[in-house]
Amino acid sequence: MNFIDALNWRYAVNQFSNEKLNQQQVNGLIESVRLSASSYGLQPYQLFVIASDQVKNDLLPFSYGQTKVANNSHLLVFAHKTQITSKDISLFISSLAKSQNKTALALNDYQQVISNDLLAKNENEQSAWAAQQCYIALGKLLSYTAINQIDACPMTGFDSQGINQVLGLNKQGLNAEIICPVGFRSTDDISALRVKYRKQTADLVTML
Ligand SMILES: Cc1cc2nc3c(=O)[nH]c(=O)nc-3n(C[C@H](O)[C@H](O)[C@H](O)COP(=O)(O)O)c2cc1C
Repeated sequence: MNFIDALNWRYAVNQFSNEKLNQQQVNGLIESVRLSASSYGLQPYQLFVIASDQVKNDLLPFSYGQTKVANNSHLLVFAHKTQITSKDISLFISSLAKSQNKTALALNDYQQVISNDLLAKNENEQSAWAAQQCYIALGKLLSYTAINQIDACPMTGFDSQGINQVLGLNKQGLNAEIICPVGFRSTDDISALRVKYRKQTADLVTML
């Protein structure tokens, strides 16, 4: 299937079958998120991959009645950092330097650029910036699922405070931004019959 056909094939699944993703498929999903681009490369988020029925059921009361949060193969949670500190930036720079066989000193100018931008933001702005990065990773995930004929439903319709509490995210300096059940569409999913609506190209694109 080519990429555009895959994007037409995918839809936000409402009802998943009982079939489970195998480990290789789960690893592929994780890798698509891990390889996502992010501003400065900081990846200010964590991905939670939940296979446990117990944990999914604990999260269900915070999903505004959307039972797909419990009925899926795996539930993914994108949680972003709520604050970016100079320590976060230093740790990132040292890891980056190590991976590129450089000294942290050689990346000093880069560290300064990042710090001047991110440390000038207040906590709300830092949190919003970090949340934006989750959506880029979500885009990668949804493309990967489509091309590999895995189903997903990106979701922001949930009570983040409840999800944060169940997963203990606050104490890790994290906030749940997006949740995404993954698996395989049920043959009973009536959402599959919905005609895909998108803006016409002329309404979306301006060519100059
Ligand atoms: C950021 C984001 C949040 C969404 N939140 C929900 C949600 O909480 N519940 C839901 O059923 N669908 C949710 N959706 C799915 C959209 O409604 C769906 O992608 C859109 O209607 C287009 O339909 P399609 O993806 O089936 O082509 C969300 C999608 C995105 C990208």
